[in-house]
Amino acid sequence: MANRRDMLHRLKQIVPLPLRSRLKWLGYAWQDATGGTRAARVPPKRKTFIGGGDFITVGDAFFGTLKRHGLSLAMDVLDVGCGQGRMARPMTEFLTGRYEGFDIDRAGIEWCKNQYKDVPNFTFHHADVFNARYNNTGKTAAKDYRFPFEDNAFDMVFLTSVFTHMFKDDVENYLSEIARVLKPGGKCLVTWFLLDEISRQSQHPVMQFRYDVDNVSQTTVKSNPEAAIAFEIDFVRALYEKCGLGIKDIEHGKWGRPDSQYDLQDMVVATK
Ligand SMILES: C[S@@+](CC[C@H](N)C(=O)[O-])C[C@H]1O[C@@H](n2cnc3c(N)ncnc32)[C@H](O)[C@@H]1O
Repeated sequence: MANRRDMLHRLKQIVPLPLRSRLKWLGYAWQDATGGTRAARVPPKRKTFIGGGDFITVGDAFFGTLKRHGLSLAMDVLDVGCGQGRMARPMTEFLTGRYEGFDIDRAGIEWCKNQYKDVPNFTFHHADVFNARYNNTGKTAAKDYRFPFEDNAFDMVFLTSVFTHMFKDDVENYLSEIARVLKPGGKCLVTWFLLDEISRQSQHPVMQFRYDVDNVSQTTVKSNPEAAIAFEIDFVRALYEKCGLGIKDIEHGKWGRPDSQYDLQDMVVATK
């Protein structure tokens, strides 16, 4: 498995990016054409922009994580950077409370609005916030964005693979917004790439944070930092404290700890 991954990584370095993207798209189009009927609310592979892995498997696994951390059916939840509804999909059969999701990718939100129109407690919003990778015409800077929700509105707020594409000032603002919209006692689950003594030595074939973005974060791609950003764990700990969020648990992911039983990214679980 590791050898296959290494080989693919080496191949990636040889084949130029435009050709790689085209080949990938063709592969996905083939899978869409030959894969039979798609399950409800699962986007075609060639139109999926939220990352690798199987859409259903990844969503179901995270649903399990949310339940393990206390999700119950009457809760009101917020999914920040909800993408194409990968995490929302398994919750439709479970949640009687309110689900709100927002994202800066307009096409993703249009897809969700359309797919979930028969699920009245699920609502999706587009936020026209700038990100060089996901919305390079966005009008508002993420560091200035106020979430369109009242204070103390949610029992749970979660972000999967969102702060891993955002800069320091942006995550500072977003975490304080998360604290604002969480009810007292509410929980937030956020995935990060956390830099500490162990993960800094990581030999992961892809997640190599070699380039400084600023004094607390590093990226894998110098020319396109938002591709993947990792933060110093001490910065993250201090930020939670500043925002009034108490860290209850950190589940270290496989990217920095190959023996981890968890997902690729690290996850910080905190309460207000
Ligand atoms: C890797 S995708 C993950 C999507 C979704 N959370 C999931 O796991 O399926 C990253 C998502 O973050 C969104 N994003 C990036 N910057 C954002 C921001 N400032 N506010 C909200 N969403 C953002 C992108 O548009 C994209 O949908």
